[in-house]
Amino acid sequence: MLDEAQTETLLEVSNIEVIYNHVILVLKGVSLKVPKGGITALLGGNGAGKTTTLKAISNLLHSERGAVTKGSIIYRGERVQELSPEALVRRGVIQVMEGRHCFEHLTIEENLMTGAYTRSAGKAAVAADLEMVYTYFPRLRERRKSQAGYTSGGEQQMCAIGRALMSKPETILLDEPSMGLAPQLVEEIFGIVKDLNEREGVSFLLAEQNTNVALRFAHHGYILESGRVVMEGPAAELRENPDVKEFYLGVSDAGRKSFRDVRSYRRRKRWLA
Ligand SMILES: Nc1ncnc2c1ncn2[C@@H]1O[C@H](COP(=O)(O)OP(=O)(O)OP(=O)(O)O)[C@@H](O)[C@H]1O
Ligand SMILES: [Mg+2]
Repeated sequence: MLDEAQTETLLEVSNIEVIYNHVILVLKGVSLKVPKGGITALLGGNGAGKTTTLKAISNLLHSERGAVTKGSIIYRGERVQELSPEALVRRGVIQVMEGRHCFEHLTIEENLMTGAYTRSAGKAAVAADLEMVYTYFPRLRERRKSQAGYTSGGEQQMCAIGRALMSKPETILLDEPSMGLAPQLVEEIFGIVKDLNEREGVSFLLAEQNTNVALRFAHHGYILESGRVVMEGPAAELRENPDVKEFYLGVSDAGRKSFRDVRSYRRRKRWLA
């Protein structure tokens, strides 16, 4: 169990605002912390601002005509806005984009090898890391010679995480790993994330719409709505919170409800009152 009071903070996002195209205000003062050795979940529905937050952290907003206009993002004492995405990777922060993004025409193994490009480590060290990735993802070993474009969605998600691991990251920003995958595969991938966290000490900031799964695997969670953090706390507490149960887990004292029923209530949420 991660003792939150004892751990060092790797990443601190303080009150950031993000604007797209000079006018569209998308993040309206988001603050969060990622402790060393933790799995931190960033939760929320469609368009809440999860991806925008991750891209702000890894300094990838420029290509989207977006900018951080207020607040600060500090990784180990350095402002990330002053670092290029590549410099950030060298400091141990890497993002796994939403929608997987493997190079379709390369094999799985070639994809993994592209993840080692920022490293000056010798061949033997890179080979050892490749072996480590295959140990965590046995399916990737089986598919190592397959062209990535022909592998399944789950294998491509594993490939994207495996490629990030090849940069020897301290922190992985993982965007919506469950997207489009069958429940069993989602469990498998989250199980591997947990192993990587516990055995390799990789810290995660995990953006997810799938609150149920994310809160089972994470230590701490933040819930975003319309660009604001509306609730945060240890994952175990969020799982038991009545509002989270009702609006995000689809369960309430009245019994199980489908997500659609819950959303159609349109009752004012208690935490916004
Ligand atoms: N490049 C962009 N230009 C303008 N608006 C954008 C851009 N990217 C995202 N947005 C808007 O910013 C808001 C937050 O989007 P974001 O992708 O961060 O949400 P999200 O929480 O990741 O959602 P999802 O769960 O659907 O991935 C949305 O209203 C979206 O339409
Ligand atoms: Mg997103």
